[in-house]
Amino acid sequence: MNSEKLKVAVLGGTGNIGEGLVLRLALQNLMDDGLKNEIIIGSREPESAEEAAKKDLEELENCGFDTTKIRISGKSNLEAAKAADLIILTIRFSHVPSLLEEIREALEDKVLITPVVPMVKAGPLFEYRPPAEGSAAQAIREMTPESTKVVAAFHNIAAGKLKDVVKCKAVHDSVICSDDEEAKKLVMELTRNMGCLKPLDGGALKNANTIESLTPLLVNLAKLNGLKNLGVNFS
Ligand SMILES: NC(=O)c1ccc[n+]([C@@H]2O[C@H](COP(=O)([O-])OP(=O)(O)OC[C@H]3O[C@@H](n4cnc5c(N)ncnc54)[C@H](OP(=O)(O)O)[C@@H]3O)[C@@H](O)[C@H]2O)c1
Repeated sequence: MNSEKLKVAVLGGTGNIGEGLVLRLALQNLMDDGLKNEIIIGSREPESAEEAAKKDLEELENCGFDTTKIRISGKSNLEAAKAADLIILTIRFSHVPSLLEEIREALEDKVLITPVVPMVKAGPLFEYRPPAEGSAAQAIREMTPESTKVVAAFHNIAAGKLKDVVKCKAVHDSVICSDDEEAKKLVMELTRNMGCLKPLDGGALKNANTIESLTPLLVNLAKLNGLKNLGVNFS
């Protein structure tokens, strides 16, 4: 992997949390100690990915950032995954099996980050509904080649906070779980430079279900208490 200029594919990067992650990753290129990266947005429709890339660059420009050092492009999910060193899966859990099947050939030896939370609406509130494997992260581990380094991260940050690159100064914790220590270290470094997240080592991938289960709690607390974009701080 070329750690000088990391190629990051954000699959479903046209969506909510995908956009937030793209913006935060892009800004790392302007920091002295940020991980220099090139971002490729993936979508089922390459044109939507290209449009999202253009919109994200415009958004950063409108916020007053120098975008000359930032590269964001758009491709189909498969082409984005093929081009990347590191892949972030920002789609709903119900769509994960078919997408992983479609991009399987591009997953060998790659780092794959999952912020995916399997949750369902039950009445006015949300419930965590993990699959039989124990968590979305463990199910994704089972659905990917053995050489794929699966890392669970970014479950407990609201897309709204990630997208608010100018005003959001709050820093929440992001617990990161993986069975691959090197991949976990890389994702922790990437997280440290997001500007609104503090990475915490959460141990092995099997611990991801606790972290995934906090997301419906945050959404429900926000709804019940008239709050917005909640996060967690353990310290
Ligand atoms: N939103 C949050 O604040 C937040 C926070 C923590 C974790 N998460 C997790 O992040 C994931 C994404 O959440 P989100 O709110 O960003 O989702 P979203 O905006 O509803 O959707 C993300 C993208 O999924 C793609 N998509 C839709 N249907 C699909 C299908 N059948 N197959 C493949 N791709 C499909 C769409 O991209 P194209 O149409 O361009 O293909 C869409 O832009 C979820 O698993 C969620 O649990 C979200």
